[in-house]
Amino acid sequence: MNELLLKFPRSMASLLDILHGIQDADPQHHLSDEALRAVAEYLDVPPSEVVSTATFYTMYSRAPRGRHIVRLCQSPPCQLLGSETLAEVLAESLGVGIGETTADGAFTLETTSCLGACAEAPAMMVDDKVYGNLTKEKARSVIADVRRSDAAR
Ligand code: FES
Repeated sequence: MNELLLKFPRSMASLLDILHGIQDADPQHHLSDEALRAVAEYLDVPPSEVVSTATFYTMYSRAPRGRHIVRLCQSPPCQLLGSETLAEVLAESLGVGIGETTADGAFTLETTSCLGACAEAPAMMVDDKVYGNLTKEKARSVIADVRRSDAAR
């Protein structure tokens, strides 16, 4: 943790970047109480300031999540082109509801606002990769591909 923190300037202006860095490095993609305390200590600010930032932005998670984060866009262009049906398909395919993590800890299913891929709506993101022009079949196939590549490791 300390090694990671030292990569960032000791300034509140770095707080968002620090939280991103910690969350990305965490195997469960979340911000633990312990991590937030360490950040507050590093920046020499009250822990409440760090906690309020970490809870204000939806891009941060205080709860542990899966190894892969599936984010389905719910903004109007994607909604108009069927993202609600895709949410059902993904929920069924993963066996979890929105905001939940699979029992094996592999996937967390979330919704998000625009991913910047409206020209290819409906879209979703799995980890850092955006998948557009989604159909039910394509959504299932993306999940199956990620599962296969996990199993091959
Ligand atoms: S509205 Fe879904 S990617 Fe922009």
